[in-house]
Amino acid sequence: MYFTQAFLTLLPLLLASQVEAQSSIQNLTLGFSANDGKGNVTFSTSEAPSSVTCFNLAEIFASNASTEHSYVVDNTQNFNPQTNYTSLFYQQLNGSINGDTSGVGTGKDAARSVEVFPGEDCRETDGLSWYGFSCQNADGETYTVPGGVKSFSIVSKAESANQGHCWILAKQGAASTSFKGCFAAVITAAFSGLLLIM
Ligand SMILES: *[C@@H]1O[C@H](CO)[C@@H](O)[C@H](O)[C@H]1NC(C)=O
Ligand SMILES: *[C@@H]1O[C@H](CO)[C@@H](O)[C@H](O)[C@H]1NC(C)=O
Ligand SMILES: *[C@@H]1O[C@H](CO)[C@@H](O)[C@H](O)[C@H]1NC(C)=O
Ligand SMILES: *[C@@H]1O[C@H](CO)[C@@H](O)[C@H](O)[C@H]1NC(C)=O
Ligand SMILES: *[C@@H]1O[C@H](CO)[C@@H](O)[C@H](O)[C@H]1NC(C)=O
Repeated sequence: MYFTQAFLTLLPLLLASQVEAQSSIQNLTLGFSANDGKGNVTFSTSEAPSSVTCFNLAEIFASNASTEHSYVVDNTQNFNPQTNYTSLFYQQLNGSINGDTSGVGTGKDAARSVEVFPGEDCRETDGLSWYGFSCQNADGETYTVPGGVKSFSIVSKAESANQGHCWILAKQGAASTSFKGCFAAVITAAFSGLLLIM
């Protein structure tokens, strides 16, 4: 009984470390601040979710590191829902696979697509666009997001809609094409479903 329980408790850890060892995926770090760089709140995750996952700043930074989600937030005491988060720090780098570092480097395809939105729930608002990031950046870089950020989404690059070249502050959508982010997600979902059927 005791051993069974111990094993069942260990199993996810064993599986997780196995996945970790084979994976080329490292942490993604996002920092959000006002124009002047003040009030920087940060989000970090080691996950690359296989379905589009949306985060509202007001929800994830409202409390300290959550236990039910696989991410860590920092400096939450700085968070102010009134702040216009127009400054985005972005850092994402692949890891080497069995010593092979050919997939690692700033400007190369990253393991996840990140989309930042001016509205809550990963939506455009007031004719403001959303922006995509899917290139690696080893040291991280700070970008100005014109419309500000209220939410962002993360999805594994393998599951994201096809991109010619990886994104660096790639302006997406427009006033005329609201909810393109959701649309892309739906297309991806449909495509995954198709693959399953085939
Ligand atoms: C925000 O936080 C990140 C991660 O700690 C850091 O690298 C970045 O320099 C910070 N940005 C500003 C404007 O302080
Ligand atoms: C990666 O992120 C996890 C949280 O998801 C954190 O516990 C870990 O310390 C981070 N590792 C590095 C090298 O920053
Ligand atoms: C989060 O942690 C900081 C220090 O670690 C603390 O000052 C703050 O009150 C905490 N906030 C919440 C919402 O628990
Ligand atoms: C980085 O890792 C991801 C996930 O394993 C992979 O899809 C991508 O192709 C890698 N990038 C490069 C340049 O190999
Ligand atoms: C944030 O600032 C930008 C540029 O100054 C503006 O276009 C946007 O409407 C502002 N967003 C909010 C929520 O105030």
